[in-house]
Amino acid sequence: MTAKAPEAPAAQVKAGRIAVEALREVVGLVKPGVSGAELDRAAEQAIRDRGGVPAFKGYRGYGATLCLSINEQVVHGIPGERTLADGDLASLDLGVKLDGYYVDTAVTVSVGTSRPEAERLRQATEAALGIALRQARAGNTTGDLGAAVESYVTEQGFAVVRDCVGHGIGKGLHEDPSVPNYGKKGKGSRFSAGQVVAIEPMVVAGSPQLKLAEDQWTLSTEDDSLASHAEETVLITDGDPVRITPVTDSLGDPGTLSGEKADARVTKATQNTGSR
Ligand code: MF3
Ligand code: CO
Ligand code: CO
Repeated sequence: MTAKAPEAPAAQVKAGRIAVEALREVVGLVKPGVSGAELDRAAEQAIRDRGGVPAFKGYRGYGATLCLSINEQVVHGIPGERTLADGDLASLDLGVKLDGYYVDTAVTVSVGTSRPEAERLRQATEAALGIALRQARAGNTTGDLGAAVESYVTEQGFAVVRDCVGHGIGKGLHEDPSVPNYGKKGKGSRFSAGQVVAIEPMVVAGSPQLKLAEDQWTLSTEDDSLASHAEETVLITDGDPVRITPVTDSLGDPGTLSGEKADARVTKATQNTGSR
């Protein structure tokens, strides 16, 4: 007997499509001079136009659709009147709820003229996500994933954030298991087919210690070093995960991640950044 291939709830798949389209639209508006509030309005409109509900608005009192985290801000930055400047490194994170199910996805982009050190960090973060996806399969543990991410990131001369982690996601935005971007091979909890998880490396150029802003949301690096973040919601299978919010491959189309694709991505990131 062959086991039936696992499926994500249809609502979550639909929510994933909405999230990818919305995030793609918002990324298209990113340029020097645009305010966080403008991006947030566009994100909310894009989600609602497609029949989704912004997942973060009202979550534990959070007031916006988008988390916009700029430069030393790691996650949970609140979009407001501050405008993006040329050379900024900006993480855009959004969640969609549809028929009771959540998805969560984030991407980091350079604003206008990219700074080489920011691009290197951004690309290493995307490569770390690719490496994480290759570990995210039934039978592997969260420790396998975390160890692979941590060792790649450290090799690149960067550090992983330890205070925030990836997570299961379904009828709740944050469910078990925790999916840390650090760990020990073989430790942690075992992935099983049919599980849906949000995998989200947060990578910093300096100290991974974080500080909380007065707004009680924005998390920044303690030493104000640059930070980058990439996140996808995926379905665990016996093979490569099914990417429910495949936003990171140049914001490409939904599909599964083949080993070669991930390898190519890693190679590319290394090539782009190798000669220093
Ligand atoms: N998107 C965050 C995560 O990746 C959670 C944001 S919760 C909010 O888990 F309230 F800040 F929006
Ligand atoms: Co998340
Ligand atoms: Co998120």
